[in-house]
Amino acid sequence: MSSQARSRPVSIPTLNAMKRRGEKFAALTAYDAMFAELVSRAGVDVLLVGDSLGMVLQGHDSTLPVTLEDVIYHMECVKAGNQGSLIMADLPFMTYASESQSLESAAALMRAGAHMVKLEGGAWLAESTRLLTERGIPVCAHMGLTPQSINRLGGYRVQGRNTEKANAIIEEATILEESGASILLLECVPVELGRTITERVDVPVIGIGAGPHTDGQIMVMHDMLGLTPSIMKPPKFVKNFLPESTSGIPGAFEAYASAVKEGRFPAPEHCFN
Ligand code: KIV
Repeated sequence: MSSQARSRPVSIPTLNAMKRRGEKFAALTAYDAMFAELVSRAGVDVLLVGDSLGMVLQGHDSTLPVTLEDVIYHMECVKAGNQGSLIMADLPFMTYASESQSLESAAALMRAGAHMVKLEGGAWLAESTRLLTERGIPVCAHMGLTPQSINRLGGYRVQGRNTEKANAIIEEATILEESGASILLLECVPVELGRTITERVDVPVIGIGAGPHTDGQIMVMHDMLGLTPSIMKPPKFVKNFLPESTSGIPGAFEAYASAVKEGRFPAPEHCFN
């Protein structure tokens, strides 16, 4: 699909069916109406209103300063431009520290137009995941490198590199699936761990720096347009799709969506082994 509105909106059952058929899906961050429309029309299935907005829009050096009000504002903008993609919204740092807080924060994002929410963490999210899911709020559990925990992790590093740590992430993925998570998102893990978790769970798995075997791929929009500031080395899993486009930014979104769906991205040079 390219440059056209969808005949049917993407839903969680759509992504489940794609996983069953072995079809890859594409996801990208979006923060405003115009880019949401372009990304959605380019055939990107999932738009994430990510707390990465704290870094790429607000200029902070982490996602920690982002507030729930910030995400609600950008959520409303993205909703206005969306052309049938599934919209996922991030619960920012310290807006889901307890179960009741997670319910209140997630409800605010759903009222602003999100179709599901994303939380970062592992097994400790099990009860919140169950609570939200039972009350009609689908959950994506973000695992592996969780940027909101940057101060505990000590840097943006690959997670699950040894057997013990990899097994812990696999165990937590299973717990979160059993607790009702509709999607798992794996960030910065070795290819084999991405493959094992994707094969082991029934729910769709989205990867960023998690290898080619996950059911979907996601990137920060600014990264795939080559907008990483020149003083920063882009992470290994980033690819700039703008040079492949003959029609500017919309063409870069189409090139990204096709490369993901056809299994051409990520290539070995974007993966951790
Ligand atoms: O906030 C964000 O953009 C994210 C992606 C890195 C997946 O969580």
